[in-house]
Amino acid sequence: MKFDGAGIAITGSGSATPQAVVQNDDLSQLVETSDDWIRTRTGIRNRHLLEEGGSLSELAATAATRAIASAHLQPEDIDLVLLATSTPDDLFGSAAKVQHLIGARNAVAFDLTAACSGFVFGLVTAAQYLRTGAFQNVVVIGADILSRWVDWGDRTTCVLFGDGAGAVVCQRDEVDQLLGFEMYSDGSQNHCLNLSYQANPKYLVHDLTIQKGEYQAVTMNGREVYRFAVAKVPEVVEKTLFRSEIGVDDIDWLILHQANQRIIDAVAKRLKLPAEKVIANLHEYGNTSAASIPLALDEAIQAGKIKVGQTIVTSGFGAGLSWGCAIFRWGKS
Ligand code: ACO
Repeated sequence: MKFDGAGIAITGSGSATPQAVVQNDDLSQLVETSDDWIRTRTGIRNRHLLEEGGSLSELAATAATRAIASAHLQPEDIDLVLLATSTPDDLFGSAAKVQHLIGARNAVAFDLTAACSGFVFGLVTAAQYLRTGAFQNVVVIGADILSRWVDWGDRTTCVLFGDGAGAVVCQRDEVDQLLGFEMYSDGSQNHCLNLSYQANPKYLVHDLTIQKGEYQAVTMNGREVYRFAVAKVPEVVEKTLFRSEIGVDDIDWLILHQANQRIIDAVAKRLKLPAEKVIANLHEYGNTSAASIPLALDEAIQAGKIKVGQTIVTSGFGAGLSWGCAIFRWGKS
């Protein structure tokens, strides 16, 4: 999608992960699994889990504070705090709490829920406010604590997820560094991946029975989600490249949602992209949902791999089902 006029530059990044590390072998104390099964099927070795007493808001705030510092801005400069999460501390939203914790007293804040596509959807949402001139500086955070919602007795899901947060600062700029994006949803496949509310009837007054229930643990049809990912992710990336008039050779780095190394390898192969251009860190963190892309991005920036002006292709996919792609250049030109 071409855009004429003022645009967006992504000028800062930050991330935060809990200190506690759980290895694959540790999980075999909980369920019938093995390090070999988890590594060969997913590529995951470790995951970082938030300990008792920690909060999503604090983890997200740490990542956001680091991103704002890396953009050489002050918290007061931020106009919008956009928190992509499916695991808020509060169902009314956690973004305002994050706004307070980071001291962004001039910012409005809200949550965005799109599971593992949340960061890409958040980045694109931020771009609209910047392109229209409504805001100058936006912090987009992807953060999730899925350890709260995993059934630790279900080996088909508990080995996959970890906790974390990542953030970027997006600024209105003359040159548009968001080169293209595509976003999709398919609610007909909603049943493949859920963290659903189970309602129980509760008689209230007169003839009125309302519902009073609770959220259930994550359920996933892994094979279906796998099939969906290896079909839709290359398709959306190719479409975004085509519409942005960018060739595969122009890609410096591919950062996919970190769900499974096999999915990442399959997508890179289909795009004919060499492994050296693929950024992956799920061996250390597992699937951190909305956090996975900004976490991998920030690590690669901190490591000096990603350099200013380089072109990054990123794609998120997951519950909804939802999927999307964003192509951007890092930093201001
Ligand atoms: N340890 C040992 N054995 C296991 C485990 C485990 N942890 N989990 C499942 N198995 C068994 C199964 O029971 C099955 O046994 P059976 O053949 O006797 O029935 C066998 O291993 C194979 O199971 P599959 O489900 O076919 O394994 P698969 O190769 O598909 O790998 C996986 C499963 C890793 C979940 C894969 O399907 C996958 O990555 N799916 C995509 C997940 C994803 O991308 N999610 C992204 C979105 S997340 C979000 O949006 C929140």
